[in-house]
Amino acid sequence: MSKPEKIVAIKGMNDILPGDAPLWELFENTTETILKSYGYQKIVTPIVEETKLFARAIGAVTDIVEKEMYSFTDSMNGDQLTLRPEGTAGAVRAVLEHNLAYDGPKRLWYKGPMFRHERPQRGRYRQFFQFGAEAFGFSGPDIDAELIMLCRRLWDDLGIENVRLELNSIGNAEERNRHRADLIAYFERHEDLLDAEAKRRLHANPLRILDTKNPAMQEMVGGAPRLLDYLGEESLAHFEGLKKILDRNAIQYTVNPRLVRGLDYYNRTVFEWVTDELGAQGTICAGGRYDPLIEQLGGKATPAVGFAMGMERIIELMKAMGEPAAPGQCDVYMVHQGEEAQMLAFTLAERIRDAGLDVVLHCATPSGVGSFKSQMKKADASGAAFAVIIGEDEVAQGVAAVKSLRGEAGEQQQETVALENVVDHLVDQIVGGHDHDHDHVHYHP
Ligand code: HAM
Repeated sequence: MSKPEKIVAIKGMNDILPGDAPLWELFENTTETILKSYGYQKIVTPIVEETKLFARAIGAVTDIVEKEMYSFTDSMNGDQLTLRPEGTAGAVRAVLEHNLAYDGPKRLWYKGPMFRHERPQRGRYRQFFQFGAEAFGFSGPDIDAELIMLCRRLWDDLGIENVRLELNSIGNAEERNRHRADLIAYFERHEDLLDAEAKRRLHANPLRILDTKNPAMQEMVGGAPRLLDYLGEESLAHFEGLKKILDRNAIQYTVNPRLVRGLDYYNRTVFEWVTDELGAQGTICAGGRYDPLIEQLGGKATPAVGFAMGMERIIELMKAMGEPAAPGQCDVYMVHQGEEAQMLAFTLAERIRDAGLDVVLHCATPSGVGSFKSQMKKADASGAAFAVIIGEDEVAQGVAAVKSLRGEAGEQQQETVALENVVDHLVDQIVGGHDHDHDHVHYHP
């Protein structure tokens, strides 16, 4: 009989395995705590939306919409649907559909998988996770600054260094149109230097040509008219206002006049947090203002600004800094020998969980429950603070041995505790003795 074919994951779509899960959890918990501390509220939107939502929000002539979307026809009813390539469009759709901004401004956050059919490489996947924050109904630069500083606080709390902020203002539509006309004229004067992609974009999206990676075009692009020089009074005042708040709060940035972003909905502020530690895909977080979008999607004009972080990239960065002091799998590991001991351990584990502690019970495998010694090895490997040990002697005396597993082997204490006192004893030792300060992550280099 031939072996059945092995099925593997789709290219560019990754499993997050238990070994990495604690790091993800740490990152997610830290981020959620910070978002909450700034008043952001969680929203969950569907992974699938109508294709036209993304085409209209992100823009028809963008890489995402032109060539990266997982779009399909619903075979049941012929609807044109797409796996979301990003979270802003869905968040805006939900805000409009449920009239969420009716009673004043709203701060929202989301996390979840996004899908783009890109060429996979380090830091670039076809399914990837984003954490995003979007603020609706605020027009001043203070909220732009708040979003940026929220990120800064997150990098600090995660212990992430070597990340810099790039900032730009791309003005409003009218300012961009004037710039665009001059830009097209400039590129037309240098048509002999344009590559095929740039020629294709010349009239559809000339701003994106400024983003080219083609070395042969760098010098010519460097001399192109700068959008910053076309900003009117209001756009300039907004940009200056943002820079002033950042300066006052000691947030460092560089103004990058060539930062234009790959989605069409932006106006005024755009920013990216970039690191050199991850190779070519060094942008860990990106965002900006998109004041016209809500009206474009049929709502009442409402200013908006937000960002999204690439979660895989940030996890990579956390890994590059060394293993963080991993939280154990559990607080308590239950070790037992004999049928009655196992029954007692099972029930006692439930009582310890009732008290709010995490307990792993040693369970039988195809090779049995194993000796005390092999069970103790598992207990050590679990990262538990204590092993609760019940053997035949303990059953006979109505007690358990409670052994501390942290610290050097010689210093590990073992105490005999009456069964009815085990829960209190553990709570005392674990909750009483530990400071549960998860404010900052500590790394072992
Ligand atoms: P974006 O620049 O397309 O913006 O993506 C934001 C972040 O998601 C990127 O900086 C990167 O960290 C991560 N990312 C994007 N594509 C991939 C990929 N293929 N693999 C791994 N990570 C990736 C947006 O999505 C906007 N919705 C951000 C925003 C929110 N603007 C305003 N509000």
